[in-house]
Order: sequence, then structure tokens, then C-alpha cells
Amino acid sequence: MIREMRAAIFDLDGVIVDTAKYHYLAWKRLAKEYGFDFTETDNERLKGVSRVRSLEILLEIGSLNLDESEKEKMAAQKNEWYIDYIRHMDASEILPGSAEYLKTIRTKGIKTALGSASKNAPLILERLGISDLFDVIVDGNKVGKAKPDPEVFLRAANELNIPAAHCVVFEDAEAGIQAALRANMGVVGIGKPALLSEADIVIGGLWQLMVLSGE
Ligand code: G6P
Ligand code: MG
Repeated sequence: MIREMRAAIFDLDGVIVDTAKYHYLAWKRLAKEYGFDFTETDNERLKGVSRVRSLEILLEIGSLNLDESEKEKMAAQKNEWYIDYIRHMDASEILPGSAEYLKTIRTKGIKTALGSASKNAPLILERLGISDLFDVIVDGNKVGKAKPDPEVFLRAANELNIPAAHCVVFEDAEAGIQAALRANMGVVGIGKPALLSEADIVIGGLWQLMVLSGE
């Protein structure tokens, strides 16, 4: 299907900024505390998934069955470590071409939104100084259902007042690609084609679109 892109919806972690590595480090540290290993391959399952759901997957990997209060403690601990990693971030950690691509499409009249599961998105955008590049911000504080549920993207389209058929999602996670497809939006995968085969097209990073547009 050929669609006119009137709105572009961006995931945050792994698309705009490389916070995926900090999420991984914090989860790995937590797994270690509980006596099991957590690999990069395991981590693919957590990408794009909410904090609570991520913890459930982690516990499944470690074959642990814990009560709710212990789980709450673990999620809070992970987030504390994660914030320690991200609090020193600055604009140098914006992934290549991301800010440029956002600026370019905005000059062409395309609306932009953030569609992220992260509750830390406002802090990250503020650290990077790029909040102004988004017309609308939908993050983990605003939505109840985690990707692959399409809620986050549908809400962004709704707030932008652009029909889903004219939205294109930029995603690095399998769960996010499924969410975009369920929302009936176009989807550009960012990362390795083998892991993101359901996307309409897969690129290595937004910098590649800048190369193609010749800007
Ligand atoms: C993003 C990341 C996930 C993360 C989720 C929640 O979608 O890809 O790895 O678990 O956000 O992030 P938070 O910052 O709220 O823990
Ligand atoms: Mg992501």
C-alpha cells in the first residue's frame, strides 16, 4: 500500500536515543542480584514493552515466582538504576540523523509525535533538549496498555487529528512494530532486518533517510 505520510510517530528508546543500552544494563544488574543471567538476546523481548510487563518477562527468564510487593520493589530498583544512567545524558546521545530528520519533515508540514511506553520520556526529552520537535507527546504516563497494543499510536494520531492510514511509525522493537500494524499505520523498522521482518521497510537509523533525501 502506498500512503501519503501526514504524521510521523516516533518511538523514543532505540529510535531517537540509545537508552536501550541503559535499560539493558539495569535489567541485567537486577537479574544478577537475583542470581540469574540476562543476555542481549533475552533483552530483545523487553524492548518497547512497559516496565511492569518487562519485569514479568525477566522473572519468566529467571524462572522466579515472586509476590507483588517484591515485584514492586524490583521495578523501583531497576528504575532507580536506570535514572542514574540517564540523568547525565545530553544532546550528544541523540542517535545520528534523528533530530535532523524531525526538523526536515516538520518544515514539509508533516506532524510529529512521540509514541513511547516510557514513563521517563519527559525527563529524557528534557535532557536532550528536543521536546519542541514533537507536536504531541504520548508516553507511558498517558497510556494504560503496553505495546503490542496499538493504544499509544492511536492516541498520538487522535491528538494530532490525522487518520491512522496517513501515519507512519518509526520503531526499533518487535512489540512496537506489531502495535503499529494493529493500528493500521505504516511502519519503518529501525535495526536489524532479521529481527524486524514485519515492518514495511527496515533501515539502520534515521540518518539513512537524511542521506536519501539529500539534505
Ligand atoms: C520503552 C523501552 C522499554 C521500557 C519501556 C518503559 O518502550 O523500549 O525497554 O521498558 O519504555 O520504560 P520506563 O522508562 O517507563 O521504565
Ligand atoms: Mg524502542
